Parts: sequence; C-alpha cells; structure tokens
Amino acid sequence: MNTSPIAIAIDGPAAAGKSTIARRVAECLGFTYVDTGAMYRAFTHAVIKKGLDPKNEAQAITLIPEIEIDLLEDGRVICNDEDVTKTIREPLISGNVSYIAAMKPIRLALVEMQRAIAARHSVVMDGRDIGTYVLPDAAVKIFQTASVETRAIRRYEENLAKGIPTSLEDVKRDLRDRDYIDSHREFAPLRPAPDSILIDTSFMSIDEAVEAVLRAVKRKMGDGITC
Ligand code: DC
Repeated sequence: MNTSPIAIAIDGPAAAGKSTIARRVAECLGFTYVDTGAMYRAFTHAVIKKGLDPKNEAQAITLIPEIEIDLLEDGRVICNDEDVTKTIREPLISGNVSYIAAMKPIRLALVEMQRAIAARHSVVMDGRDIGTYVLPDAAVKIFQTASVETRAIRRYEENLAKGIPTSLEDVKRDLRDRDYIDSHREFAPLRPAPDSILIDTSFMSIDEAVEAVLRAVKRKMGDGITC
C-alpha cells in the first residue's frame, strides 16, 4: 500500500477565499490544513513587536533563528508561545506582510517548515507559491481567484464580523497593493503553476467553491476519494 503523504496545493491572490475553502476540503479529506499566509503574518507580527522595520531586510532577517511558528489543528496560530491568531489579521500586519514575504531568506526558512509538515502529513496547503515552488509535485494544484471587487467585499465583511475597523476603499487598495507586490517579487512570485486548475469563485458560494475543488481533486485522484 502506498502510504506517502498526499499534497493538494491551493494558490491565488489575497482574499479569494482560499483559507475557508482549503480548510473545508482538508476536513472532508481528513488531511492537515496548512495556512502558509498565517506564517508570513506571524513573522511580520514578530518583526513589528520587536520594534524592527518590516521593510528593512537586514533588520527583519535577524529574527529567523528566533522564530517558532505552530499552526494548531483548531486554527490557532502560535508564535514563540504567544497566541497571535487575531492580531495577525489586523490592518497593520496586512499592510506590511507583503514586504516580509518578498524577503528571500525569510521565504526559505518558512518554506523549509512548510515542506517538513508536508513530508509528515497529507496536506491541503494554501498560499501563493505552493504549486510553483513549495510543493511542485503536489497531486492536485488549484489556482483560486475572484474579481478584486468580490474579494474586497468579502474581506471587508470578514473584518466587520471580527470587529476590525476598516473601510471598503482601504481594503480594496490594500488587496491591490498586496497582489502587485506578491506577483512582482523576484523570488517565488504569485502566479499559476502551468499544471494548475483555475477556479474563479467570483460568483460561487462557499459550498459551490468547495464542491468545485473536490471535483477537481476527484478528477485527478480518482476513486480513492470518498467525500
Ligand atoms: O493569504 P494571506 O493574505 O494571509 O497572505 C499574507 C501575505 O503573505 C500575502 O501578502 C502573500 C504572502 N504569502 C506568500 O508570499 N506566500 C505564501 N505561500 C503565502 C502568503
């Protein structure tokens, strides 16, 4: 029997609904969900908390040896024993995380952690470079997108529900800026893997998007998939 772990990669721009959908797909398949964006956010939080400049690579990389990030099964994000689950979604972090994510030494350190998780567990991993760089041999690669308008409304409503004060215009500007930086950085930029399946969720409910991903997984992986 082949018991090597299976990987499903879900990439795409900010607020395309990747984490909600990836989490549901992982639950359904009994796989571990890995939110790699949360790792870049946790690193950004640590840099800011230390009083370092998140745009200054020489400063930010000094934290690489000190950072330990745990993604718990219940969705909590722990960074050096501090629960940062809520803080890492705040606008201060969202507005700075792309600078940190563009720093190659930090990416290499976090990618190593991501690959170590995928070596031990079957995963649904979401991010920007999972299918292209982190797990190029993933069994299924999804590139999930949605229009910037749809994504901004979704993120704005999420922020409201979490009590994070923002305006729709600010959210839209932040998404555009982040997509630009993420897709124009030199190392492992956001782009669809050539063998990825494109899913546009602009006009889909969460249930429909989960179904679309599961259909793609079943098409690729066949009858072994039973959910
Ligand atoms: O998915 P998210 O919005 O939580 O991601 C936060 C930031 O981290 C985003 O600007 C892109 C970056 N990121 C990345 O560069 N590579 C990943 N694999 C995941 C996220």
